[in-house]
Amino acid sequence: MCGIVGYIGRAEALPVLMDGLRRLEYRGYDSAGVALLNGGSIESRKAVGRIANLAEAIQQNPVHGKTGISHTRWATHGGVTFENAHPHSDQSGRLALVHNGVIENYQTLREQLLAKGHQFKSQTDTEVLAHLVGEAVDGAGNRTKAGLVEAVRMALRQVIGTYGIAVIHADIPGVMVGARRGSPLVLGIGRDEHFLASDVSAIVAHTREVVYLNDYEIVAVEAERFDISTVSGSGADFQVSTVEFSADAVDKGTFPHYMLKEIYEQPNSIRDAMRGRLSSEEATAKLGGLEMTNAQLRAVDRIVLSGCGTAFHSALTGEYIIENLAHIPVECEIASEFRYRNLPMDRDTLVFVISQSGETADTLAALRESQRKGHRTLGICNNVASTIARESDGGVYMHAGPEIGVAATKSFTSQLVILTLLGLLLGRIRHLSHAEGRTIISEMEKLPDLVAKTLELDAEIEKVARKYARANNFLFMGRQANYPIAMEGALKLKEISYISASGYPSAELKHGVIALVNEETPSVFIAPQDAVFDKNVSNIEEVKARKGPVIAIGTEGDTALAKICDDVILIPHAPDYLTPILSVIPLQLFSYHIGVALGCDVDKPRNLAKSVTVE
Ligand code: G6P
Repeated sequence: MCGIVGYIGRAEALPVLMDGLRRLEYRGYDSAGVALLNGGSIESRKAVGRIANLAEAIQQNPVHGKTGISHTRWATHGGVTFENAHPHSDQSGRLALVHNGVIENYQTLREQLLAKGHQFKSQTDTEVLAHLVGEAVDGAGNRTKAGLVEAVRMALRQVIGTYGIAVIHADIPGVMVGARRGSPLVLGIGRDEHFLASDVSAIVAHTREVVYLNDYEIVAVEAERFDISTVSGSGADFQVSTVEFSADAVDKGTFPHYMLKEIYEQPNSIRDAMRGRLSSEEATAKLGGLEMTNAQLRAVDRIVLSGCGTAFHSALTGEYIIENLAHIPVECEIASEFRYRNLPMDRDTLVFVISQSGETADTLAALRESQRKGHRTLGICNNVASTIARESDGGVYMHAGPEIGVAATKSFTSQLVILTLLGLLLGRIRHLSHAEGRTIISEMEKLPDLVAKTLELDAEIEKVARKYARANNFLFMGRQANYPIAMEGALKLKEISYISASGYPSAELKHGVIALVNEETPSVFIAPQDAVFDKNVSNIEEVKARKGPVIAIGTEGDTALAKICDDVILIPHAPDYLTPILSVIPLQLFSYHIGVALGCDVDKPRNLAKSVTVE
């Protein structure tokens, strides 16, 4: 949800900013802009739409400087227009500011500024913040580095909301100021150069030494040094971290899209989610990040799983997996509902929030609400040092590597692996025997190879996808743990191809959904060889009786499905609690190929952003 990149150093800033913006484009792509400090003035360039449009604008009207800030926007306040593109300026026109977040009291502040004679060029909340900082600079008349930091501090004390910002001022060269509350901001440390970014992927090509800023911190960045303080004016402790992944991890490599690359990375990402976490000797999972003793885990009598979008679907699947393996009641709550629902929870309820980015505002709010009620709240995150990872009382990292495609794929299967590890751990503390634990471990260890085998179906899936690409509506159906997978399959298709799709438990068909079945509406059934196979077959028959085309995901060796379905994709056999990790893969590939066949921008679907940092 909006990406920021800033640079200060000895090199030309523009290539760093543009490269960084391209890597952050997943955070939003409604408009983009840069502002560079050059010879006592600030020059900015903006464009509506993709970074490529901004690059074109700059090619026609070049801009130079060794200090600069930049932004890629996902619109919240104010439409997708040139005027609303960042960077924004203050009343004097001497200051430029980029912002990720929402200033909730911007209307009140804007009216106060208007009454003082300020004029605004955009409808954004950000421009109000730029004016506030500019007013503080002009009011104090202190055109020094300390003066700019103090002005930012004064402005931030007036705002209610969230921000990750970067600011430069034409009269105060040699410094760039950043600050954060609720939106991520990371400082990159180079040799005689420093960077600011919403996400390390934007700067990892230049440095792997970073400082993840905390809420209410302000950083004054110069080429050779930086100072971190707080909005309240005190100094701040910081820690320099080394980024684990390299710049290659955020490149597409030979794949045409990030989404496809990430689908294909799943044998490895699944292996990485399990790495070092399975103990054959004790026949259990080791999840040290939970920071809970076995006695504490044993006392857990209920689990609540919360997340948004794909992460919520992994929660729903996790409910089946954990209840199956550990016999502990699990409840799932969409994160945006959690905070307002006042869910009854007893003392021994353990809460997990699930988030790839670790920055989703609704999920963060669920975490905070749960903690406010005094519950131990753990995170399942991919982004190391993300806000959720840092604020939770412990948790489990996915170690999936950067996920750039806006539609989540590999993070979903990593989440399922972690929820299975959790089921194993809790089950072994309760009723699962050593032998049962060993069996689960050996089944889990086979997963990466089974996923690789499932990926071999790609060409077959592409063929089926092309056959149905022109349909206007799809139904996805599954039972038990494959019911949430049906929902995930429908979500992937909607996100990537804009085709209407819905996911249901197969048996719900006859309670309304069947009214949608006709010759033009394909149904995708997830019908592996499990305890409910025959039930799924009956539901398929019901669809076929009404001339609905059926695509079935079955198990290798199955011959029954081919007799009644139009198209069949057979995945390797796995135990029920692991099947969802395999059955989702054909659905990911199916929506990918439909999206490509329809000419959609699969990595950056319209209106979406990878990380939604507003409520
Ligand atoms: C956005 C993305 C979804 C994602 C959801 C949760 O809506 O478009 O793909 O599933 O956020 O993201 P998180 O980072 O919290 O897992």
